[in-house]
Amino acid sequence: MSGSIVIAGLGPGADELITPEVQAALAAASDVVGYIPYVARIAERPGLTLHASDNRVEIDRAAHALNMASEGKNVVVVSSGDPGVFAMAAAVFEAVEHGPAHWRDLDIRVLPGITAMLAAAARAGAPLGHDFCAINLSDNLKPWALIEKRLRLAVEADFAMALYNPRSKSRPEGFEKALDILNDACSDDRPVIFARAVSTPEEAIRVVPLTGCAPELADMRTVVLVGASTTRLIARDGTPIVYTPRSVSS
Ligand SMILES: C[S@@+](CC[C@H](N)C(=O)[O-])C[C@H]1O[C@@H](n2cnc3c(N)ncnc32)[C@H](O)[C@@H]1O
Repeated sequence: MSGSIVIAGLGPGADELITPEVQAALAAASDVVGYIPYVARIAERPGLTLHASDNRVEIDRAAHALNMASEGKNVVVVSSGDPGVFAMAAAVFEAVEHGPAHWRDLDIRVLPGITAMLAAAARAGAPLGHDFCAINLSDNLKPWALIEKRLRLAVEADFAMALYNPRSKSRPEGFEKALDILNDACSDDRPVIFARAVSTPEEAIRVVPLTGCAPELADMRTVVLVGASTTRLIARDGTPIVYTPRSVSS
């Protein structure tokens, strides 16, 4: 019995942004596993069983998927965006590393998807056109002090930044603190892009100067792109173009 496990990214929301490789894996799957809203994006069909589970049970979900693959099923674990960016691929490998030895012999593949920061950057122009970093603002899996340190060092290194999981109902104060740190660490103003629900019918893109950012502009469906000191605005009717030039003078 040779099963397989594919960890696949569904992209930011629109069906057109799901790669053909991921579509083919879904078409061949016997079982799809994932967080409830992501599994809801998968069309039901005969021969396919959907297994939706709640947030924060990633290791249990990974173990369930690995057990089904061990039984010979063709399992696809779905994430939004890219599965390797703050998502299920690392959770599956954490389970493999600490789980039974036979899980290491399974046919395991990771299929990339379009991550939120790239979909958002494309809507705004090219804000990530020079060096950048991505920081998850959730302190569920790391201490808040580490988030503060990384924000300050990213400003010091003059990276543009993509901030994932900026603000949830259970920790509304974190993003306010992050904005205070950014305003304190940046000696100049710079554009910030609030990209909400990119590529879905609820999409909203706002460009705001850092000094004018309010915490309420972000929620858990928003990725926040903070410009570097070199990031520029091209004014025009409607939303301006935001881009970071490719070069920095010495
Ligand atoms: C648990 S992370 C998953 C990231 C995902 N693996 C990816 O590569 O985009 C969830 C966060 O991704 C961001 N996100 C996901 N989809 C988005 C979208 N369509 N528009 C804006 N942000 C999105 C938000 O910051 C959200 O809080």
